Amino acid sequence: MPELSSKRTEFLSFQPPAISEAEIEAVSETLRSGWLTTGPRTAELEARMRDYLEAEHVLAVSSCTAALHLSLVALGIGPGDEVITTSLTWPATANVIVHCGATPVFADIRPDTLNIDPERVRTLVNERTRAIVPVDLYGQPADLDELVALGLPIVEDAAHAAESRYRGRKIGAISDLTCFSLYATKNIAAGEGGLIATDRDDLAAALDDLRVMRRGHGSLYDIAVPGYKANLSDVLSSIALVQLDKVEEHAEIRTRQVAIYDEGLAGLGGLEAVARDTRDVHANHLYVVRVTFAGRDDVQRALTDENIGTSIHFLPVHRLSAYRDRLAPGQPELPVTDQAGDEVLSLPLSPAHSDDDIRDAVAAIHRVHERLS
Ligand SMILES: Cc1ncc(COP(=O)(O)O)c(C=O)c1O
Repeated sequence: MPELSSKRTEFLSFQPPAISEAEIEAVSETLRSGWLTTGPRTAELEARMRDYLEAEHVLAVSSCTAALHLSLVALGIGPGDEVITTSLTWPATANVIVHCGATPVFADIRPDTLNIDPERVRTLVNERTRAIVPVDLYGQPADLDELVALGLPIVEDAAHAAESRYRGRKIGAISDLTCFSLYATKNIAAGEGGLIATDRDDLAAALDDLRVMRRGHGSLYDIAVPGYKANLSDVLSSIALVQLDKVEEHAEIRTRQVAIYDEGLAGLGGLEAVARDTRDVHANHLYVVRVTFAGRDDVQRALTDENIGTSIHFLPVHRLSAYRDRLAPGQPELPVTDQAGDEVLSLPLSPAHSDDDIRDAVAAIHRVHERLS
């Protein structure tokens, strides 16, 4: 363990975007091209992401939330249906089920990776179950083989998993539909945006109709379905393309930062990194520890006083006001999710940070650990 640095004078943001002159130039070029909305840059992004994600089809949309919503609509999910998902996620994962008029049913998670537990999912499947929405939490792929074996359509929330591989296969075409986010903090960040990857021609065609009100040539047009407005603009696609160029370089930085945390925090009692499955490639989107040496919220406040920004991924969705009164009849208790929701703390991780920034975070955690434990 190297010598610990002293308290930072400047606040270390939790997850700033890594934007350089290249993205700024790409946006200027797009603005000069005259294409503000969906056009050639978006088509290029889709083509390059098809290669990168190893999927037959990639459709660019306005957010991962839209990607998840349209995916459920494309599968025909509606009132009376149940969709099984995890509660340790961003609320969007569950909100889109509600937006379809269906009911989210939360399955408890594995205590090690905090991903949805396929065994718990199996016990919740009934004649109303129409799909499963697993999340590749923090960049660790969910247990896809076990979930696929349940025989239901899968809409995978891969918002954290742009670079992930599951047992050697790229996350992108393992599930029926896989949804990615281009949100400001994500590994490929455009500010806002989303992608849907699939090998299924039927679903890709349905999604293409759903994501934008199709316009014909000239003044005459027709629409096949009452679609949504969820297309991605070329301005944002041009940022995503530059970020895609840098994805490997950024992955190396993330891997280094994870190693600094793993080494620097090893042996601190009551502080444990969330497990990773070494058979998979983890996207290192988030570095999350479980805090038990003191109350998580006290530790977060103490780190803020140390000028270290942190975040919480996530507060369980079933405990949020919007969900307390709309839980499915028979919704089981979620003890593993509840405990994780009280303990998880996400530490600064970003290609915009230097290795020394991460060492400052490690040093601050040691001081807080000594003070509060
Ligand atoms: C697990 C998860 N799913 C879905 C989303 C929604 O992504 P977007 O902001 O692109 O709609 C997020 C966003 O942070 C997320 O973390």
